[in-house]
Amino acid sequence: MDAREMKIKAARAALAHVESGMRLGIGTGSTAEEFVRLLAEKVADGFKVEGVPTSERTARLCVELGVPLKSLDELPELDLTIDGADEIDYDLRLIKGGGGALLREKIVAAASKRMIVIADESKLVRMLGAFGLPIEVNPFGLVSTRIAIEKVASKLRLEVDLRLRQSGGGDFTTDGGHYIIDASFGRIPDAEALSYELNSIPGVVEHGLFLNMAALAIIAGPEDARTLRANR
Ligand code: A5P
Repeated sequence: MDAREMKIKAARAALAHVESGMRLGIGTGSTAEEFVRLLAEKVADGFKVEGVPTSERTARLCVELGVPLKSLDELPELDLTIDGADEIDYDLRLIKGGGGALLREKIVAAASKRMIVIADESKLVRMLGAFGLPIEVNPFGLVSTRIAIEKVASKLRLEVDLRLRQSGGGDFTTDGGHYIIDASFGRIPDAEALSYELNSIPGVVEHGLFLNMAALAIIAGPEDARTLRANR
């Protein structure tokens, strides 16, 4: 079974948690897109749902496939968000933002009663950090913000390599008009401390550590999809 089939399996299992009439946050990335495709099939059969997309990319796919959308201002409180992740640990801490949508993803997840994360088993890790942490930053004061991130790493005794994300020959820009610095720490032994310190840097708009947000993770392997629950 290839990665795409595992993503579809996780997405299908997540669909079972979606009830008719729900206000649904819809994630970004290749796994979330498999979920959108399956959801669209149900919608075509008459299933009622209202979705709030976490990116322009997801919005475009939903429109193309006929999934009804609202803005978060129209539906400011959501029942459930389904989204992918770049890394998931066994306490359901996440790294997100590989697709550059972390700010809207975090706002939408925070506006939801529950978040379910879907992934193939390659995303499940003992400790976060092998995947570079996406940090969304304001373009103003970029060099100062970069230095501040390095100081946070040093304070927490972490090695870090920072790269300004590039795309199509220029700086990658998020849906909100910000830049992304990908911070490779290698390992993040204390994600809560790192989150706290990054949040204290004024030029950091948001970072890709999603802590205490996911209630369930549906992790698909070649044999089956297993569900991990948050201990809280
Ligand atoms: C988007 O910004 C990310 O948070 C995605 O959810 C994450 O990168 C997972 O994407 P894939 O499902 O494509 O691996």
